[in-house]
Amino acid sequence: MTTGFTIWFTGLSGAGKTTVSRLVEAELRARGYKVEVLDGDVVRENLSKGLGFSKEDRDTNIRRIGFVCELLTRNDVVAIAAAISPYRAIRDENRARVGGHFVEVYAKCPIEVLAERDVKGLYKKALRGEIKNFTGVDDPYEAPEHPEVVIESDRETPAQSASKVIAKLHELGYMR
Ligand code: ADX
Repeated sequence: MTTGFTIWFTGLSGAGKTTVSRLVEAELRARGYKVEVLDGDVVRENLSKGLGFSKEDRDTNIRRIGFVCELLTRNDVVAIAAAISPYRAIRDENRARVGGHFVEVYAKCPIEVLAERDVKGLYKKALRGEIKNFTGVDDPYEAPEHPEVVIESDRETPAQSASKVIAKLHELGYMR
């Protein structure tokens, strides 16, 4: 017997959401689960093409991802979302939408570390004012108050972070 649920990664750009979500996906697939990942960068090329980074557009993006998570979850697929999803209220809306079968994973990392890493070169641009409304620089990020899991890419390896998520899924009864 399988039941669907949603794993929702939230956190600043570059904090490890994509990397760890892919490891969790692989682990779940290896154990026979059907899994689909909705990654912000990918969704914005497809389902949310044309949306920008105003609060309104981010909310629309996150609600769309939540809508797809709901469809997958109710069909016994594990939906994994990996998007900044900066606003608590919309994340909570999605939690309610999937009937509470929602595991929030907060990818926590100090902005100084992210700006130093700057994998996509976006933090430097944002800090120079060349990109406006960049999350964590000049746009808000509302950290979760009670995430099921906190992962920290400046203190643990991606594999360790993925193991924390898998352990929580066992603890919550989503995995045998
Ligand atoms: S969200 O706010 O709507 O959840 P999402 O996760 O889909 O964001 O997209 C974030 C990605 O878009 C970042 O990883 C980064 O590559 C890119 N990006 C471009 N402009 C911005 C911006 N102003 N703020 C945050 N991310 C941005």
